[in-house]
Amino acid sequence: MSEVTTPQVRPTRPYFSSGPCAKPPGWDASKIAVESLGRSHRAKIGKTRLQYCIDLMREMLQLPDTHRIGIVPGSDTGAFEMAMWTMLGARPVTTLAWESFGEGWVTDAAKQLKLDPTVIRADYGQLPDLTKVDWSNDVLFTWNGTTSGVRVPNGDWIAADREGLSFADATSAVFAYDLPWDKIDVATFSWQKVLGGEGGHGVLILGPRAVERLENYTPAWPLPKVFRLVSKGALAEGVFKGETINTPSMLAVEDAIFALEWAKSLGGLDGLKARSDANAAALDEIIAERDWLSHLAADPASRSKTSVCLSVAGADEGFIKKFAGLLEKEGAAYDIAGYRDAPPGLRIWCGATVDTADIEALGPWLDWAYASLSA
Ligand SMILES: Cc1ncc(COP(=O)(O)O)c(C=O)c1O
Repeated sequence: MSEVTTPQVRPTRPYFSSGPCAKPPGWDASKIAVESLGRSHRAKIGKTRLQYCIDLMREMLQLPDTHRIGIVPGSDTGAFEMAMWTMLGARPVTTLAWESFGEGWVTDAAKQLKLDPTVIRADYGQLPDLTKVDWSNDVLFTWNGTTSGVRVPNGDWIAADREGLSFADATSAVFAYDLPWDKIDVATFSWQKVLGGEGGHGVLILGPRAVERLENYTPAWPLPKVFRLVSKGALAEGVFKGETINTPSMLAVEDAIFALEWAKSLGGLDGLKARSDANAAALDEIIAERDWLSHLAADPASRSKTSVCLSVAGADEGFIKKFAGLLEKEGAAYDIAGYRDAPPGLRIWCGATVDTADIEALGPWLDWAYASLSA
C-alpha cells in the first residue's frame, strides 16, 4: 500500500460553500460602514444607503432602466415566493425542475397555490427539453440549479413574443453570467451567493410586463403584508427606492455595499465573470487530470460556473461525508459535500469571491482525501 502524502500548501481561504459563500477577498468585519446602524432605516442616512445599494446592484448587473430592482425580506426564497404569490394564477403555469430548488417552486405552485402546473423535469445532471415550454404560460425556472450544477445555457429558448411571464430564480447565476434582461420578467437573488454577502434579504427584479401584471391582476388568495407590492392598484414604487416593506438589516445592507464596491473595483460584471470563469476552468483542469472525479452536469454548455457539482467514483453518502469531514478537519476545504437531496458527490463553489489559487491548491487535497479513504 502506498504512503498517503499530505499536501504542503493549504488553500489560503478554504471557503468553498455554495451558500452562504466566501466573503469577498480582503473582507473584514471592521471594514463595514456602521454609520447607518442604530438609526431608523427611514432616516435620511438609512434611505440613502439603501438607495446606494440598489444603485450599485443595478450598475453591477448592467440592469436596463426598463427593470426595477428592490430589496425584500426572506432572502431569495422570500423574493421568489413574493413574485409567485403576487403574480401567479392569471394564466396557466409551467414549472421547470432539474434539481432541489426548482422542485421547491413546483411544490409551491402545485401544493400551496394549487395551480395544477405543467411540470417539465429532468434528473440531476441533466437539463429538461427547453423547446417543450409553452410561452402562453407563466414559466418558472432556476437559471443556475445550485444543487446539480446545471444551468440554462442562455435565454435563447425564452420566447421574445411570450404571452406568459418568465420567472427566473437567478440566485446563483447573477454576477456570474450575462443575463438577457429583455427575456426576464421576474428575477430574484440573495446577497449570500455570488457577492459573498449575508442571507436574510432577497432582491426582486421586475420587468415592465411583471409590473403590468401586478397592477392589473389580484390573486384569489390572501397576501401577507411582507408580500404586498401594490397599493391602491399601483406598484409600491418606494420598495424600488429603498423604502423597504418592513425593517431591513442595515448591517446586511452595509455588508452587501462592501461586496458591491469590491465588485466595482474589479470592473463590475465583467470582472466578476472573469473570476468565476477562471475558477471553473481551474477546477475543470483538476477534474480532467483525475479518472475518479467527473462533472455531474453532463453537457459542458449547461454546466455551472458557480456551483460546480462533482461525482466521485464509487462514493456513497458515507464516503462523501467522511471525505468532506477530513478536509474540514485539516482546514483544507469547508462545506464541499453535495446538497443533501442531490446524488452523493462534491460541490465546489467557483463564484467570484473565491480565489483561483485556492481552487488550484484544492486539487492535491482532493487526492489526499480520496487516497486516505481508499487506503
Ligand atoms: C437556486 C436556489 N434557489 C433558492 C435558494 C434559497 O435561497 P435562500 O436561502 O437565500 O432563500 C437557493 C439556496 O441555495 C438556491 O441555490
